[in-house]
Amino acid sequence: KRIDIKALFSAPPADGTTVTVCGWAKTVRDSKNIGFIELSDGTCFKNLQIVFEAGKLENYKDVAKAGVGTSMQVVGRVVLTPGAKQPLEINADSVELLDVCPSDYPLQKKRHSVEFLRTMPHLRPRTNTFAAAFRVRSTAAYAIHKFFQENGFVYVHTPLITGSDCEGAGEMFRVTTLDLNNLPRTEDGKVDFSQDFFGRSTNLTVSGQLEGEAMALAFGKIYTFGPTFRAENSNTPRHAAEFWMIEPEMAFADLTDYMDNAEAMVKYVIGYVLEHCPDEMAFFNQFFDKGLLERLNALVNAEFARVSYTDAVELLKEHNDQFQYKVEWGVDLQTEHERYLTEQIFKKPVFVTDYPKEIKSFYMRQNEDGKTVAAADMLVPGVGELIGGSQREERYDLLKARMEELGMDCTDYTWYMDLRRFGSAKHAGYGLGFERLIMYLTGIPNIRDVLPFPRTAGGF
Ligand code: 4AD
Ligand code: MG
Repeated sequence: KRIDIKALFSAPPADGTTVTVCGWAKTVRDSKNIGFIELSDGTCFKNLQIVFEAGKLENYKDVAKAGVGTSMQVVGRVVLTPGAKQPLEINADSVELLDVCPSDYPLQKKRHSVEFLRTMPHLRPRTNTFAAAFRVRSTAAYAIHKFFQENGFVYVHTPLITGSDCEGAGEMFRVTTLDLNNLPRTEDGKVDFSQDFFGRSTNLTVSGQLEGEAMALAFGKIYTFGPTFRAENSNTPRHAAEFWMIEPEMAFADLTDYMDNAEAMVKYVIGYVLEHCPDEMAFFNQFFDKGLLERLNALVNAEFARVSYTDAVELLKEHNDQFQYKVEWGVDLQTEHERYLTEQIFKKPVFVTDYPKEIKSFYMRQNEDGKTVAAADMLVPGVGELIGGSQREERYDLLKARMEELGMDCTDYTWYMDLRRFGSAKHAGYGLGFERLIMYLTGIPNIRDVLPFPRTAGGF
């Protein structure tokens, strides 16, 4: 019976036990009578060493010639190797070559640049960097579910096709079945979406928040975890057109409750990944960011900073000579400012709170000062904005007035406004960009390298 390499390493069988393993050769080395294969089966980050001998294998020469990437089944005996890097190796009784990889296989045994590997998303998960990144991704996703489930949050599925623009930024991908070469028009020349599939215009969701609020006002505490789409034309290392977002929403909660929950969640996920992906994290520490482990370990017990937008602007203004885009009260903070705050001033994650209402979304709760809203972004070193969130405007009249002020069509949002008419309650929530969390956890500087099949502006 076939055994996973992970199982072999975590509970080594007795010396001499016969086992069967399947995997892909990472390297094959040989001398005249003896050869060595580094075998990976994907179940863990470490490779298993296979020793094969000319005296035992009829196909010795074929095995010795098999290229990197060849798939094979090995039957052999466990040889415990105390003191060596790995606890055991396999002495092969037979090596069956399943599919010999030809020499034009692009992943040879040398370091390839991430740019080169981006051209082959179907092969790059076989490399150390991407194997580590995508396993951390899987483990972090599991940790997020675990955190929310264990804290009484209900996991809800919000629609990917919607008619609303939650963030009001107009960065939506349209969904239509209309013939683009022959669009139906109304009398005034506009596209007639009443003839479209849903009888209205629709788009891919930019956020599940609005539907999440409806669910929170039934379940109390909910979270979403799903794909999100933004047609942002920004070609940056931290924007993808398709990314995954976690959006918790809590009834009877305010801005501080959101920040407390978000801080606890991020710490939990960091701790969980450090514990469950030690090999992968050691790899990132070695090859991507030498201070990564020390920093993340310290963070699990540290307190994140909190500063108001107004105070942050005062702090940043002192360094305006260093910024391309000068800071003054009222401007939206740019990545350069966000990174300066978290990397140079606070040197740890920081929540910036109470932004001017003009630069934030319509649903955010207005503060007493009439100028700011109860919003907060969590900024982290190396990435910038990791989380955006707020307390929501739960007062019907104020919400309606704000939507009208912004020229929104309230008839599109009657269901959302109903939530403020039927048992309204203060509530708050946030959105965590999952890819940015993985960048933060691994030190990988480009979002294209933490998504298995990235979709970014300009093509894929
Ligand atoms: O700040 P954003 O736009 O907030 C919202 O969408 C709210 N509706 C969330 C909520 O309160 N429920 O986006 C939230 C996070 C950002 O902080 C960022 O981490 C990530 O989503 N994000 C992106 N990640 C990758 N590519 C993009 N194009 C992203 N846009 C936002
Ligand atoms: Mg934001």
